[in-house]
Amino acid sequence: MSKNLKQPKVTVVGAGNVGATTAQRIAEQNIANVVLVDVAAGIATGKALDLSEAAPVELHDRSIIGGADYNATKDSDVVVITAGIARKPGMSRDDLLKTNANIVGSVAKEALKYSPDATFIVVSNPLDVMTYLTKQVTGLPANRVIGMAGVLDSARMRFFIAEALNVSVQDVTAFVLGGHGDSMVPLARYSSVAGIPLTDLLPAEKIEAINKRTREGGIEIVNHLQTGSAFYAPASSSAEMVEAIVRDRKRVLPCCAYLNGEYGLKDIYVGVPVKLGAGGVEQIMEIKLTESEKAELQKSADDVKANMDKLNQLMSASV
Ligand code: NAI
Ligand code: 2OP
Repeated sequence: MSKNLKQPKVTVVGAGNVGATTAQRIAEQNIANVVLVDVAAGIATGKALDLSEAAPVELHDRSIIGGADYNATKDSDVVVITAGIARKPGMSRDDLLKTNANIVGSVAKEALKYSPDATFIVVSNPLDVMTYLTKQVTGLPANRVIGMAGVLDSARMRFFIAEALNVSVQDVTAFVLGGHGDSMVPLARYSSVAGIPLTDLLPAEKIEAINKRTREGGIEIVNHLQTGSAFYAPASSSAEMVEAIVRDRKRVLPCCAYLNGEYGLKDIYVGVPVKLGAGGVEQIMEIKLTESEKAELQKSADDVKANMDKLNQLMSASV
C-alpha cells in the first residue's frame, strides 16, 4: 500500500491498559495511524515502539508513535481519551470523579488545540460525566463528543447470552441503555439471537440474572484483577467506535450521547442507540420503551444528573 495515501489519524490519550490496547486494536485492524500520549512519556514511547515492532508479524502498515508531546497529535481525525485513574476493589466509578475531572478537562483542552476538527471519544470514568465535561471544556458541538460505554456493556450482555444459550456470539444482539453505572438498563426486549427475541428463548429469571451480571460486569473484572479494571473488551469497544467514524460506517451502536429532549431527557449525556459515522453522532435513534423501561432509564439519568451536580460543585469550588 502506498505510504503517500492519506491515512486516518487517531490520538489515544492515556497509554495505560485501555489506551495501549485501544492503540493496538486500531493499528492491527488497519483502521488508522495512532499517536499515543501519556504524562508518563516513556510508557507511551515504549508501548508505541513495542506495538510497532509487532507490525511485521501482525502484518499491518499503520504507524504508532508515542510520547508526552501533543505536537505529534496535530490534525488527528479522532481523539480517544483514556487518561485518568481506574477503579480498585471497593471503589465505584464515581469515586474517580474529582481526580479524573482534572485530568480529562486538561487533556481534552490540550488535544483540541492541535486537532480542532477531531471527533472526541471519551472513555475515562465516571463516563457520562467525563463526556459532559469534555463537551463543556472543548465547546465542541454535541455530535463530536461521544462517550464509550454502551458498546462495552452490550458486548458483555451479548457474551452472557451466547454463553447461556451455547450459541455463537456472532448471532447475538443486545442493547444496554442509560448511564455507565449500577443503574444501566439492559434491554432484553431489544436483544435477540438471529432475530429470535431473547424473551422467547430464556425464562424471565435467567434473563434477570444476565441483566444483573451485565450491570455488574465492570466490578466482576475489578474483583478478579484486584489492581485495576477491564481493558480488553473496553479497547475493542473503543476501536469499534473509531472505525465507525473514520470509515463513515453509519453503524448503529449504543453510545453515550448528548440528549436535548430525546427520550424526554435534556442537557445530559447518557447511553442511547445512535448512528455513528464521519459526522460523529449523526442521529439519535429513539426506540419505543415500555413504561417500566422508561422509568429505569429515568432513574439511570437521575444518577448521572446527581454526578453532574457533584462535578459542578467541584468546579465552582476550585474557581
Ligand atoms: P491505567 O491506569 O492503566 O491508565 C491510565 C493512564 O492515564 C496512565 O498511563 C496514566 O499515566 C495516564 N494519565 C494520567 N494522567 C494523565 C494526563 N494528565 N495526561 C495523559 N495521560 C495521563 O487505567 P486504564 O485501565 O487504562 O483505565 C483508564 C480509564 O478508563 C479509567 O478512568 C477507567 O475507569 C476508564 N474505563 C472506562 C471504561 C468505559 O466503559 N467507559 C472501561 C474501562 C476503563
Ligand atoms: C468497566 O465497566 C471500569 O467502567 C469500566 O469495566
